[in-house]
Amino acid sequence: MTVGHEIAAALEVVGLHKNFGALRVARDISFTLEPGARHALIGPNGAGKTTLVNLITGVLRPTSGSIHLGGVDITRARLERRVVLGLARTFQISSLFLPLSVAENVALAVTAKAKIDTQPYGPVYRRDAIVAEVQRLLALFEIEATAQRRVADLAYGQRRLVELALALALKPKVLLLDEPAAGLPKRDSERLLEILMRLPAEVAVLVIEHDMELVFNFARRITVMFEGGILAEGSVAEIRRDPQVRDVYLGHRRDHEMAS
Ligand SMILES: Nc1ncnc2c1ncn2[C@@H]1O[C@H](COP(=O)(O)OP(=O)(O)OP(=O)(O)O)[C@@H](O)[C@H]1O
Ligand SMILES: [Mg+2]
Repeated sequence: MTVGHEIAAALEVVGLHKNFGALRVARDISFTLEPGARHALIGPNGAGKTTLVNLITGVLRPTSGSIHLGGVDITRARLERRVVLGLARTFQISSLFLPLSVAENVALAVTAKAKIDTQPYGPVYRRDAIVAEVQRLLALFEIEATAQRRVADLAYGQRRLVELALALALKPKVLLLDEPAAGLPKRDSERLLEILMRLPAEVAVLVIEHDMELVFNFARRITVMFEGGILAEGSVAEIRRDPQVRDVYLGHRRDHEMAS
């Protein structure tokens, strides 16, 4: 037992490897998210970003390496256990209940969280507390006006906000966002950034994004992946001026996205 006063990292990944047959999709991945981190994970298509999220959330098992969440070893933990310990994610492809309303989708997530919190005692949560929490989340993500509409009838950008509300309903310590701005028109992605800026300060957030404006404005640190490995990690300024990063990733993008 340690007697020091070190605060455990929110998430610590050490020496993670994953092979799909001969394809090495994660090679020696190590990084740490401190509580309250605002961290971006970037890299070209196929670099292994979503695979890494799948390893952290337990969708995939690593070939070797370890994952700790709040100091607890979750390398081999089941998905549900990881959620209980404070891990939440959104998906590159939507995972909402399309025939249900926005409020119903959020209420399902809030109820699931209430059940987790009261597990040893059975479902002792109160209906009015659930309703209040649903209202709070709808307000946080500015989707009150669509509360009674079916998710299937919503514009794409609105759906992405509902997904964020679902993830936040779990009151995570670590939130993994896989391309939240993908497919959004410029205006919506600016609005998304404003909303991301309002996420609770204590939650560690890892965002995967190709929208460099969002990345540079949101993140304090950036990790760059390339061909399954980590190419670079640093502050926004360090990554922007890293010649290797410009070559393999940012260099592939339109010049104006790089301009300061
Ligand atoms: N289940 C799987 N079986 C085999 N190969 C896979 C599997 N999932 C992903 N891959 C491969 O692993 C590599 C990494 O894919 P991944 O989806 O993690 O990339 P990514 O960085 O998220 O890319 P994008 O920016 O396009 O979302 C790719 O070569 C992909 O084809
Ligand atoms: Mg991906």
